[in-house]
Amino acid sequence: MRTQVGIIGAGPAGLFLAHLLRQAGVESVILESRSRAYVESRVRAGVLEAGTVETLSALGLDARMKRECMIDDGLDIRFRGKTIHLDLPGLTGQHVVIYGQQEVVKDLIASCISLGQPLEFEAKVTGLTSLDGERPEIHYLQGGEDKVLTCDFIAGCDGYHGVSRAAVPEGKITHYEKTYDFAWLGVLSRSPPLPDMTYTNSDRGFALCSRRSTQVSRLYLQVGADENPEAWSDARFWDELHQRMFDADKVEIVEGEIFQRDMARLRSFIAAPMQYGRLYLAGDAVHITPPTGAKGLNLAVADVRSLAGALGHFYRTSQRDKLARYSEHCLKRVWRTVGYSTRMTELLHKFPEQGAYRRELQFAELDFIHSSRAAQAAIAEQYVGMPYEPI
Ligand code: FAD
Ligand code: DHB
Repeated sequence: MRTQVGIIGAGPAGLFLAHLLRQAGVESVILESRSRAYVESRVRAGVLEAGTVETLSALGLDARMKRECMIDDGLDIRFRGKTIHLDLPGLTGQHVVIYGQQEVVKDLIASCISLGQPLEFEAKVTGLTSLDGERPEIHYLQGGEDKVLTCDFIAGCDGYHGVSRAAVPEGKITHYEKTYDFAWLGVLSRSPPLPDMTYTNSDRGFALCSRRSTQVSRLYLQVGADENPEAWSDARFWDELHQRMFDADKVEIVEGEIFQRDMARLRSFIAAPMQYGRLYLAGDAVHITPPTGAKGLNLAVADVRSLAGALGHFYRTSQRDKLARYSEHCLKRVWRTVGYSTRMTELLHKFPEQGAYRRELQFAELDFIHSSRAAQAAIAEQYVGMPYEPI
């Protein structure tokens, strides 16, 4: 098989890229190791910045999102009996949209299929060759058969555990990494959510109450990195959440049936440059932000907007100038965003090993944000997301 752009991974990065390329008149094939059902049911992000919403709209794929999404215009941070309320429209003139990542993925896949966009499920990429030549190749396994996709360019959109970043020869890419000693235990519950997205920094650890609809809550607890999610019975989860949210009388947070659980270790990771030869990396394949601040999906979309822009420009003009700028262009946004998510992570989690001195500094910072509109505006501005700069 042969195509212009071979895309590895049908997560948000790969799917958005295929649609954007199609719009620019560039053909692509997506190879995804998992089944359609698996990819569509993987519960992760839920907060979409304006740039991500705009991208869905520009592709004409926003109809269901417009009907089913929730507009989020407030964000609360609780600590030591106080609440910081960030009025997002008042502070920034903008809001964010709540619409589950797996819903975005379903909409993108349905549209690929109806448009005839080549998308192969259960096609596991095993290796990449000739990355520094004119015709790079993707080797993959499908239905027990070894196959090859020959491309002009390869887009590595295969997430943190994918194969494309690992295909870059040693010494040609630098990894920057910080791994935290804790994870987020996330659940979906059939229960009405709190009215605003609410983060808390309590003496028992961080917690977050978000939502997916008026009847479904998305809830997270900071837990130890090596904890077994099965050790968290529903009763223990709810009890801990009430305590961390300062809801001791259990009147505020409504309990419901927990129907999904997942656990994700917190880490920051950036690989640079985001390109080697004819391989271009995007999304979680090349950077991970800690989830505090809800940026990973949005960053993946910003990457592929730039990549689609640069590839479209190449096929229109034969000029490689935008492709040459891709990595530098994206990394500016990536480092700024990872910086923001890191500050939010450090402000809101409990770091037991850092002792009372560090803890008091966290509360002094939270008190300052509580009293300062300028400090609130700075957080809100980054939370709603920086404007997308075309490449
Ligand atoms: P992925 O979604 O990981 O997709 C990669 C795809 O590649 C997968 O489908 C995988 O199966 C496939 N693949 C891997 N290896 C191969 C192979 N060898 N061959 C073929 N295919 C392969 N971000 C936000 O913006 N907002 C949020 O609110 C938010 N909340 C989050 C909450 C949690 C608990 C977690 C874990 C993440 C959250 N994120 C959030 C981050 C966000 O989910 C990710 O950044 C996003 O999924 C990245 O998309 P991607 O397409 O780059 O990678
Ligand atoms: C959600 C995830 C986040 O990482 C975050 O900071 C806020 C909300 C969510 O899944 O809704």
